[in-house]
Amino acid sequence: MDWGLKNRLARIIKPHDKRGVMLAVDHGYFLGPTERLEEPRKTISPLLSYADSLMLTRGVLRTSVDATYPVPVVLRVSGGASIIGKDLSNEKITTSVKDAIKLNVSALAMSIFVGAPHEHESLVNLGNLVNEGEEYGIPVLAVTAVGKELEKRDARYLGLACRIAAEFGAHLVKTYYCESFEKVVRACPVPVIIAGGPKLATELDALKLTFDAIQSGAAGVDMGRNIWQSDYPVAMIKAVKAIVHQNMTVKEAHEMFNTLKDARKQVIRSNQKS
Ligand code: 5RP
Repeated sequence: MDWGLKNRLARIIKPHDKRGVMLAVDHGYFLGPTERLEEPRKTISPLLSYADSLMLTRGVLRTSVDATYPVPVVLRVSGGASIIGKDLSNEKITTSVKDAIKLNVSALAMSIFVGAPHEHESLVNLGNLVNEGEEYGIPVLAVTAVGKELEKRDARYLGLACRIAAEFGAHLVKTYYCESFEKVVRACPVPVIIAGGPKLATELDALKLTFDAIQSGAAGVDMGRNIWQSDYPVAMIKAVKAIVHQNMTVKEAHEMFNTLKDARKQVIRSNQKS
C-alpha cells in the first residue's frame, strides 16, 4: 500500500488497536435538516474532540468546522438523490478528488446500492473513485446503503454488499450490524465499521449494538444519530469510544454514560440557578 494512503488510513483506523470512532454527520446530503442536525456546527462542535474522524459533505465541512481544527475528514463525495425523490440509489460522484485534496481529506466516502435499480452505476462509480483516489494516496470508504429498505439488513445481503465493495478496491467498508455479523466480517478482506442506523429506543441499546459489533470483528463505528440524537451526546460518544478503544463491557460503558449524564444534568441545573 502506498505510503500516503497508509498514513491517511491510520488517521481513521488507529494502528495501535486497529479500531476507530468516526462521527457521521453527512445525513443532510439526502435527508436535509435531520432532527438535531439542523444547525451542524452546534451539533458537531461539542463532539469533535472525541471523534477519531468526521464523516461529512464539503458544504458542512466548509461552513461548520473550523479549518484550524485538526480532525481527520472522511468526505462524502456521492449524492444526487433525496428522501422525497423516486430512487435513492440514483447517485453520482458529486465532489471532485481535486476538491477533496484542497480540503485535505483523509478519505473519500461514497454509497453503493447492491440489488437496487442503480446498482451498476454505483459499483462502477466505486471502481472509478478507487482508481482516482489511489492516484493521490487517498483511501475510499464504501457505504453499503440500503435506502429505505432497512429490512435488507441481514448477513446474507450485507455480506454480499461488503464483499463486492472490497473486491472493487474499497479500503474500508461501512455497513450495518446484523445477526451473524462475524460472517460479514470474515468474508470482507478490508476493515468493516458499522453505522448506528436510526436512533434506537435507549442509549443502552446503542452501546450493546456497538459492543456486539466489536465482539464480532468490526473495526469500529461510523455512528451518527445514536450519538447526536441522544439528550447527552458527549456522554454517548465517550461511552461508544470506551467500548471501541478500551474494550469496555456494555455494563461499564453504560455506567460511564450515566455518570457523565448526571454530571451534565448538574451543570445544566446550576447554570439555570445563576
Ligand atoms: C447515510 C450515512 C450515514 O453516515 C450513516 O448511516 C451513519 O449514520 P447513522 O449512525 O446515523 O446511521 O452514510 O447514508
